[in-house]
Amino acid sequence: MELRDYLATRRSHPASEMAAPGPDDATIDSMLTIASRVPDHGKLAPWRFILFEGEARVAAGAAIAALRPDQSERLAEADRNRFTRAPLVVGVVSTAAPHAKIPEWEQELAVGAVCMNLIHAANAHGFVAQWLSEWPTYDADAGRALGLKDGERFAGFVYIGTGTRELTDRVRPDVPSLVTHFAA
Ligand SMILES: Cc1cc2nc3c(=O)[nH]c(=O)nc-3n(C[C@H](O)[C@H](O)[C@H](O)COP(=O)(O)O)c2cc1C
Repeated sequence: MELRDYLATRRSHPASEMAAPGPDDATIDSMLTIASRVPDHGKLAPWRFILFEGEARVAAGAAIAALRPDQSERLAEADRNRFTRAPLVVGVVSTAAPHAKIPEWEQELAVGAVCMNLIHAANAHGFVAQWLSEWPTYDADAGRALGLKDGERFAGFVYIGTGTRELTDRVRPDVPSLVTHFAA
């Protein structure tokens, strides 16, 4: 598929409907290298990746479920299974921090670009992907349990696996209504 056609039709695949196999180690390396090739003011690389694979996905689910002992069994099960929905989950970590020259906002935008590039990289390698935040992104205890250090936060989790079905498109923005022409 031509690059333009790919970009014009790319879709996320629901994580809950992904299947094995996931990428092997060399492919993961390639994906993360592509993901990291983003505009980055000041060349700070204010991101890192935490990989959830294999049995570690089960441990991660158990760790976050344990933070909510009072929730219903249905929600506890959703937490236990959260990371096993896909063969690979990449936690994209923002390490953005105050800097003398580069606004933190710009660092965060670069991390967002990394997430989007990771989706493109997964697709380029024949896999499907979905970027999800969900509650663990915004919960400090979950962050710590999942490997964050002080001052870091998740930009989200990019789920990567094999697609199981054709995807129908969703409603897309009406782009002309988003455009104005500056006139002095
Ligand atoms: C930062 C971020 C966080 C997201 N978190 C969630 C989420 O927690 N749950 C969800 O259903 N979709 C979430 N989404 C939306 C999906 O990634 C995606 O938009 C949806 O699956 C359709 O994607 P597509 O437009 O690429 O086809 C999030 C998107 C972004 C950019």
